[in-house]
Amino acid sequence: MKLGVNVDHVATLRSQRHTLYPDPVVAAMLCEHAGCDSIVMHLREDRRHIQDRDVELVKEAIKVPFNLEMSINREIVEIAKKILPAQATLVPEKRQELTTEGGIDLIRHFAKVERVVKELQECGIKVSLFIDPVIVQAKKAKAMGAPIVEFNTGKYSESKTSQTIDVQLKKIRAAARYARQSGLFVAAGHGIDYENVKEIVKIKEIEELNIGHSIICRAVFVGIMAAVEEMSALVAGCKLQAAGNTVAY
Ligand code: PXP
Repeated sequence: MKLGVNVDHVATLRSQRHTLYPDPVVAAMLCEHAGCDSIVMHLREDRRHIQDRDVELVKEAIKVPFNLEMSINREIVEIAKKILPAQATLVPEKRQELTTEGGIDLIRHFAKVERVVKELQECGIKVSLFIDPVIVQAKKAKAMGAPIVEFNTGKYSESKTSQTIDVQLKKIRAAARYARQSGLFVAAGHGIDYENVKEIVKIKEIEELNIGHSIICRAVFVGIMAAVEEMSALVAGCKLQAAGNTVAY
């Protein structure tokens, strides 16, 4: 299983004081040194954290693939076509949300999303679709020719009881199995932390996890490279070495 690190929240800290630091591009370089497999940045329409210069610079600064998370907003699509990230992950976007709240509904928005998928693919960008772990959504992703799906683990990560956790895991497992059998590359992400990742790594059909908030939070205490190394070890299925290390990230 691969690890993509989302550095948006380094930029969130920068936005808090309108400073030049901390720089998410420097964070991306350190994450790469720590061994992550890709870097994710979400250029939101409202530019609340990642800025245009970040996506321009990171493309030049890192060797691992750059995965640009984005909506299908026309201005952002044009930026993607200019920057040419290795991958674009299409997500729904609402101005008021704290973070992405759900997957794109490919049944409702099939034609609009398909048009953007084709447009980005014509520029040589690999396209991933962020969808809820539902088989019909994966079916639509396949039908519109996207090679990658990222299943939304948000509901799983917000689940509080073992019963609701099990229900969500079952949904993720079934959707991941279906997507893999259909020949899609399967990623997952949203709300994954150093504890709840342990059940997700058991799902062998998932080939990549994209994780942001928990890694950047842990970086406050242990540094960003250590935070990435620890998560990489968990994603690789290893136990965290230091006792009690994950309690207070
Ligand atoms: N994947 C997608 C598609 C996302 O929108 C996000 C949040 O930006 C993530 C992964 C990472 O989520 P988190 O910050 O909760 O780890």
